[in-house]
Amino acid sequence: MTGFLIAFEGGDASGKTTQARRISELIGAVFTREPGGTEVGESLRELLLSPEIPLAFRTEALLMAASRAQLVEEVIRPNLETGRHVVSDRFLASSIVYQGYATGLPVDEVRGLSIFATNGLLPDLTILIDLPVELSIRRRTDMPDRFESEAIEFHEKVREGYLSLAENSPERWAVIDGSGSLDEVSSLVDEAVVNHLGLSLNEPRS
Ligand code: TMP
Repeated sequence: MTGFLIAFEGGDASGKTTQARRISELIGAVFTREPGGTEVGESLRELLLSPEIPLAFRTEALLMAASRAQLVEEVIRPNLETGRHVVSDRFLASSIVYQGYATGLPVDEVRGLSIFATNGLLPDLTILIDLPVELSIRRRTDMPDRFESEAIEFHEKVREGYLSLAENSPERWAVIDGSGSLDEVSSLVDEAVVNHLGLSLNEPRS
């Protein structure tokens, strides 16, 4: 018996972290995030998000992949193998979309690098919390990180990239309109988890 891997994706300030944590608690999953989730991953996160540290695009892609490799090896795979579900706030689609579609590195090469990092592991379900870019920019409160500091065109490419990945694999993706109230978004996310994975949300597993 293996658990399910559920990834939450979306632009910055889409509300995906709130939803990822909520679903994780409901189904008794292990919650983690990218970049990060391990000791080395959290150190890489600081480097990766700091707008002050210069990073070549290929370095950025490699460090994202390195964080992912460690997370899969140390947290995700061992938990799935014992039957626990794992919910990750971002996973490999973030690299395909941010480093590939938006930054402009070859999308297939970025995908290949990520698949090398996960040793072939893919999410059972990716939930995209989709939001118009202007709305997500208005929602931001913190100091902008490396990616939030990018121009609006970058974020438009991120959004388009996600929507095209979702369109190509509807059986493994659910696209949720993130512009509604917290309750509205939550019930759409619940519905996606039940419909795609057949999980019951009333009986959390431990
Ligand atoms: P977040 O966890 O607050 O969403 O911030 C993580 C940022 O890192 C976000 O702007 C997207 C970016 N990112 C990538 O560019 N590539 C990746 O592979 C991942 C996991 C995140």
